[in-house]
Amino acid sequence: MKRIGMLTSGGDCQALNAAMRGVVKCLAYSGEDVEIYGFLDGYKGLIYGNFRMLTGADFSGILTKGGTILGTSRTPFKLMREPDENGLDKVEAMKQNYYKLRLDCLVILGGNGTHKTANLLREEGLNVVTLPKTIDNDLWGTDMTFGFQSAVDIATDCIDCIHTTASSHGRVFIVEVMGHKVGWLTLNAGMAGGADIILIPEIPYDIDKVVEAIKQRDERGSRFTILAVAEGAISKEDAALSKKDLKKKMESSQYPSVSYEVAARIQEKCGKEVRVTVPGHTQRGGSPCPYDRVFASRLGAEAGKLILKGEYGFMVGYRNREIVKVPLEDVAGKLKMVAPDAEIIQEAKMLGISFGD
Ligand code: F6P
Repeated sequence: MKRIGMLTSGGDCQALNAAMRGVVKCLAYSGEDVEIYGFLDGYKGLIYGNFRMLTGADFSGILTKGGTILGTSRTPFKLMREPDENGLDKVEAMKQNYYKLRLDCLVILGGNGTHKTANLLREEGLNVVTLPKTIDNDLWGTDMTFGFQSAVDIATDCIDCIHTTASSHGRVFIVEVMGHKVGWLTLNAGMAGGADIILIPEIPYDIDKVVEAIKQRDERGSRFTILAVAEGAISKEDAALSKKDLKKKMESSQYPSVSYEVAARIQEKCGKEVRVTVPGHTQRGGSPCPYDRVFASRLGAEAGKLILKGEYGFMVGYRNREIVKVPLEDVAGKLKMVAPDAEIIQEAKMLGISFGD
């Protein structure tokens, strides 16, 4: 008999349900007796002992369903060691609930912050297996996270739609893409959608270079220009600021997000009419794309296999086209960023895409 606790933490994404279903199906088809305890709303459920016992029926029909059947929340890692408003020691509470339920292991699905806490629980002696989810694809130790491809599809659709209206009006359009502090999503959706200019955090932009790229397109007779701008994109001037000064600048900024600032500066420098579109959380919503359904199911099945073998303390990741187990201590606290000199960046530049550098 295996007693498994399961939780999804951090921002949701597509294919969380597919991944959990993969774990449970693998265990069920192994013939092993399993009890699944689903903790609700992420680590909060584990801290406060909010859980639901799940049966096979809970995992039926959820392969295509977005969101997470367990609910999720953000419980910042930096606050984990701080007592809650009632003085509760959160780490102790999580351990007690784990031991009270006599769990064999926890299956934790999450991104960067989630993995820091998962590693902390491992250090505290709990058995943990994790699965890499996030539309940002910024998790170290895996070439791919589930949710990413689905989000690329949605952001690409958005750029595709903007294309037709941009060509009718001859305007400059900015599509602001999620991705937190990295540019994977913007880079991929930007290339897939045929964006002319792509601005990502890893390559700070020079607004004059951006304007130059727009002018060159005008000179070549293009009626419009489309920019895919990462929500974390940063100008060269801002990148040179200290962390403190940058924070101060952002707090006092008149713009709701980076794209609006880029739009204002383009307008000011070349008098072009600029429009901004922010697809926002739609990028995390809806049904997972087929790639993510397959990918998350595979990772889930491999996590089930690790549990059956009693191998704990790993994230199930994907490297060089192979499913691998990555020690949690190697994953926690690291960010996987786009290398500014990566092949894909060089190829994008060969295609005439400007990165504003
Ligand atoms: O990490 C996923 C993500 O969607 C990021 O791309 C984005 O910056 C952030 O979460 C948004 O967070 P929230 O849903 O808390 O607004």
